[in-house]
Amino acid sequence: MCGIVGYIGNQDAKEILVKGLEKLEYRGYDSSGVALLNDSGLHVYKEQGRIAALREVIDEQEQAKVGIGHTRWATHGKPSRRNAHPHLSNSGRFTIVHNGVIENYEELKARYLLDIPFASDTDTEVIVQLMDKWVESGVAVENAFRQLFLEIKGSYAVALLDNQDLETIYVGKNKSPLLIGLGQDFHVIASDALAMLQVTNQFVELMDEEIVILRQTSKRITNLSGEIVQRRPFYVKLDASDIEKGPYPHYMLKEIDEQPVVIRKVISKYQDITGDLVIDSHIRAHIQKADRIYIIACGTSYHAGLVGKQLMEKIADIPVETHIASEFLYNRPLLSVNPLFIFISQSGETADSRGVLVAMKQLGHITLTITNVPGSTLSREATYTLLTHAGPEIAVASTKAYTAQIAVLAILAFDSARAKGIKVDVNPVHELSIAANAMEIMINHKEVMEEVVWQYVNTSRNCFFIGRGVDYYACLEGALKLKEISYIQAEGFPGGELKHGTIALIEEGTPVIALVTQAHVRANIRSNVQEVKARGAHVCMISIEGIEEKEDHIILPAVHEWLTPLVSVVPLQLIAYYAALYRGCDVDKPRNLAKSVTVE
Ligand code: M6R
Repeated sequence: MCGIVGYIGNQDAKEILVKGLEKLEYRGYDSSGVALLNDSGLHVYKEQGRIAALREVIDEQEQAKVGIGHTRWATHGKPSRRNAHPHLSNSGRFTIVHNGVIENYEELKARYLLDIPFASDTDTEVIVQLMDKWVESGVAVENAFRQLFLEIKGSYAVALLDNQDLETIYVGKNKSPLLIGLGQDFHVIASDALAMLQVTNQFVELMDEEIVILRQTSKRITNLSGEIVQRRPFYVKLDASDIEKGPYPHYMLKEIDEQPVVIRKVISKYQDITGDLVIDSHIRAHIQKADRIYIIACGTSYHAGLVGKQLMEKIADIPVETHIASEFLYNRPLLSVNPLFIFISQSGETADSRGVLVAMKQLGHITLTITNVPGSTLSREATYTLLTHAGPEIAVASTKAYTAQIAVLAILAFDSARAKGIKVDVNPVHELSIAANAMEIMINHKEVMEEVVWQYVNTSRNCFFIGRGVDYYACLEGALKLKEISYIQAEGFPGGELKHGTIALIEEGTPVIALVTQAHVRANIRSNVQEVKARGAHVCMISIEGIEEKEDHIILPAVHEWLTPLVSVVPLQLIAYYAALYRGCDVDKPRNLAKSVTVE
């Protein structure tokens, strides 16, 4: 949440910062701002709304070779220009951008800043006002900056400018991600490498509680005790097409379309030279030792985790519990004697999941992260990582990352079964390839889902999704997609549960999308459909070849029953997409959301 950028070098900082912010907009888009530092002082431009609004207010003539920028997802203080970063200290000497939450900001205000008028409602401003206060009382700027991080509690990635020093950006990091980008005669900072691929692909990662004194040609990284830290840079291998929309109107549509290719890529990444799907032998050994697996995740990744539970239990006979990270953190269930923890996260930065990871590591448990982002916090901090290889996912609504997570979980389940000597009567590569082909067929028939939207969803204020077993999990995901981008109130329910309460909401014309891909419950779910139809529901039936009936609206190509969630989610993603499109919503950047959720 929130994205920050910075530049110090020879070129005009303005355009580099604004372009960088455009790439970070997925992290938050409530407001944005830049601070440019030149001989005539600090120049702060900010605006509520998107980066496009910021572009309008920046003085094109303002030249500066040093600057910082921010795009915000509001936590403290509503989205407004007043609360937009950068924040200035009262004297006007310091300005700051911050990603994260200062948990003890009220305490710090009460202890040090009672006499200081604040210009915003943010937790962030306390940092810059403390700098003013301490430096005015005679503390050297660098010492005051270090002192800050001994005092503040919480998560932060910050960049600070001093209007009396055109040669330095002060940088600090704890829990929120931050990278230093290296270039010929310049340095940049960014919450995500994507922002600065425009000028460099060489980055140094900052670890928690590190401070950097960043100059045009030097960088001094120290820990809070002042010890110098040396760290090797890494190279980011991405080309522009990975992060551009190309001919697509929206990233979400591009990412939905990429799914078959992603699944094939996942297969190839986990194949050994004999063509078998294999998992790192250390991970396999820990899975064999575990008496129970705990999958921890949030949102869409949690839904993938629910499917993962079914796969591990059905294919590999290993007991699994899937938990929502934010619930697990404060309401921990009784753990088994020898648990293994799997964290699923597209971004690898989700604070709720990280909270659990840190707590489980402290208890000495083995942890595995399944993520799309190599080098992300959850990847770095877990004992092991499995990558989902989906390529950058830019749309806030997760699509290809979700199906890639399920593919990796399926491979883990097949590998675990083989390691346990369980005879699995299918060829996993073949079945996953069939699933990829089936996804492609659905993608090639988008007009069917577009029609469903016109017929069932578009003008409705609500929509229910029903299914059983893995179909219920797919329904949860379909409902999340629909609500997050079209703002239609949507819920997924197990078909059998409707009669215990939810059916009271069904009235004449209520849209219900019913999913049936599992032969053993097809009669049950079809009878649930009759129950809602009898009460006036307008039902769109999605079934699969082999158990379809002729009046079904969407029939998925046949795939192995374990792998149907890879395919059944595609029409649900497309239904959400077209619903959002026809309701005039911002498909890629839905209101109130951000792609990377780095606050608890
Ligand atoms: O990066 P993560 O997978 O950890 O993110 C978890 C959720 O915030 C995320 O899946 C969210 O629910 C999606 N944007 C929904 O489409």
